[in-house]
Amino acid sequence: MRNAFPPGFFIGAATAGHQIEGGNVASDSWALEHVPDTVFKHHSGDAADFYNRWPDDVAMAAGVGLRALRFSVEWSRVEPVPGEFSRAQLDHYRRLAAACRAAGLRTVVTFNHWTTPLWFAAEGGWTNPHAVDRFVRYVNVTAAHLAGEIDWAITLNEPNVATVAAVGGGGVGGAAVGDLGLALEHASRRHPSTTGSFKPMMLWDGDQLGRYAEAHRRATEAIKSHVDVPVGWSLACVDYQAVPGFEERAAAVRDQAVTRWLEVSRDDDFVGVQNYTRRLVGAGGVEKPPAGTPVDDLGWELYPASLTNAARYAASVSGRPVVITEHGVCTFDDSLRLEHTGRALDLLAAAVAEGLDVRGYLHWTLLDEFEWFSGYDVTFGLVEVDWRTFERRPRPSAAWLGGIAAGVAAG
Ligand code: BGC
Repeated sequence: MRNAFPPGFFIGAATAGHQIEGGNVASDSWALEHVPDTVFKHHSGDAADFYNRWPDDVAMAAGVGLRALRFSVEWSRVEPVPGEFSRAQLDHYRRLAAACRAAGLRTVVTFNHWTTPLWFAAEGGWTNPHAVDRFVRYVNVTAAHLAGEIDWAITLNEPNVATVAAVGGGGVGGAAVGDLGLALEHASRRHPSTTGSFKPMMLWDGDQLGRYAEAHRRATEAIKSHVDVPVGWSLACVDYQAVPGFEERAAAVRDQAVTRWLEVSRDDDFVGVQNYTRRLVGAGGVEKPPAGTPVDDLGWELYPASLTNAARYAASVSGRPVVITEHGVCTFDDSLRLEHTGRALDLLAAAVAEGLDVRGYLHWTLLDEFEWFSGYDVTFGLVEVDWRTFERRPRPSAAWLGGIAAGVAAG
């Protein structure tokens, strides 16, 4: 890398509970994975068994030089039935956070990374009039228990994900283009423990922005009542670019999928930016990358400048500091991951040197993971996982990124 990050800038890896822990049986996603005509390619099953193997993984992340770990608390483990909290599960996450900090990894804790308890989804999920109260009750109990071990807090991961999918072009969570929401709804009705009101994860119709903004505000207050740390939410920040002549159309897409959500962050300590690619907006709306464009294994264009573009845009709309809470490459070709990430980081470091207020970078993701609808057929991992033995084999990119992380002076 030609450009360096300033003292205090932290570099680490991002993860999400359902995608690596395994055995998240009381969640809505687990139920959806098991319906007869599921839209999921695989069952999450044991995933990477991070639930049991986290001590080794924390040591490995710190050992290669990383300085931060983002992980999510699985709501359905902590509150398996409404109002009944598991002290053992809360202790589990507290031990994980404490071990990270003891190993020199800053903790970035996500309170909801899409999955919700099956009971919450069954009573209408986020459409239930009591949804926000339910979420805040869980956040309140969890924040109280983890207080002191949290460095940065994220209330909701990509609440705008369904809107990004709706404006077109896919580009999210491994989802194929198409009416994913409908497919999931259909599948969800076939699960024995659900009713017609079953609303899983982030897939529902209605005023999502209003509902999530309220959940975010009240969750932020709940966290801050226990611990004085920066709190924000993380947004899917696709770098939408206009094909010449279609600037208005691109602005409308950007407004719908990103801008309105970034405006909510104006009251926050920071905004979490998640960027993987850019999307051109032209005559047909959001376009697929033209034939011949270099793409990753999910068909997303390899366009290193999108990260800095997205960070710049998020900072300009929100007026708040940025943390890159996800960025990565879907590929088994580790040299591609390394080269693409290096180019993106170089551009980011240059922008930070010029004054763009970005505080940290979390690479998606530490381990081979359950990539939602695409299951285990693709990967973003810095570390390879053997799915039969759970053995970890760090790829060269893990030590490479750790070297950059360790090279940044402490703030
Ligand atoms: C999500 C992750 C996902 C990643 C890659 C992000 O939108 O937060 O859970 O694995 O994209 O698809």
